[in-house]
Amino acid sequence: MKPLVVGNWKMNLDFVEAIHLMQQLAVLEKNRASGVCEVVIAPPFVDLRSVSSILDSESMMMTLAAQHVNPNENGAHTGEISISMLKRLSVQWVLVGHSERRLMYGQDDDAVAATVMTALKGGLKPILCCGESLEVREAGNHQDFVTSQLKHALKKCDPSMSDKIIIAYEPIWAIGSGLTASPEQVREMIACIRSELLEQNFREVRVLYGGSVSPDSAESLIRDGGADGFLVGGASLKAESFSLIVSVVENCYA
Ligand code: PGA
Repeated sequence: MKPLVVGNWKMNLDFVEAIHLMQQLAVLEKNRASGVCEVVIAPPFVDLRSVSSILDSESMMMTLAAQHVNPNENGAHTGEISISMLKRLSVQWVLVGHSERRLMYGQDDDAVAATVMTALKGGLKPILCCGESLEVREAGNHQDFVTSQLKHALKKCDPSMSDKIIIAYEPIWAIGSGLTASPEQVREMIACIRSELLEQNFREVRVLYGGSVSPDSAESLIRDGGADGFLVGGASLKAESFSLIVSVVENCYA
């Protein structure tokens, strides 16, 4: 399976700053050997138009994700954005169930399941995030916790859509903390996720790792951790670190 690296800018960079970062990425991308690795940028909604224009004008080998989508078609949902609005802006992917949305904005398992299903039906590829808190890990329940998140999130999906679904394992304690999960921890959880996917008949699903990924940790997380790529937060806000992570992944697969 082709590796995938997704840059999640979260609530950072206004559209002027976004243009600046994309221009720097465009320069660095000229040195990228090949399209071995798929690269996706997930900027804030208000940056999508500008980022999309630069991807086109610079003929960059990257595609666009949104950080969130509302599962309803349209209507009275103040502050929300629909699938068709995103598709008009050439968005192909959407993050679903990121722990920040689950914990800070009340996105529960049912909302995650509805969003995964409607995104797929509407033609967006969901990047479904899962991962345990430190308390859950310390209690030894991390495998059960993540398995249950996946069971809920995928219950309405058809396994024939496997190739359009991405799973991102993001332990909450590793996000933005500088505490990257060890390759052994990642390997264990990816195996657990794959076995749950197989149980539900989902095959050929890419499983990414996210949580303080840096150019230094990337190689062992791929080679020893078995990740099919990364969901990168902080390190995606700087052109050099994001490009370096992409290069490391390309080298691992070259
Ligand atoms: P981080 O964020 O790389 O800054 O830890 C990852 C994420 O939340 O997607």
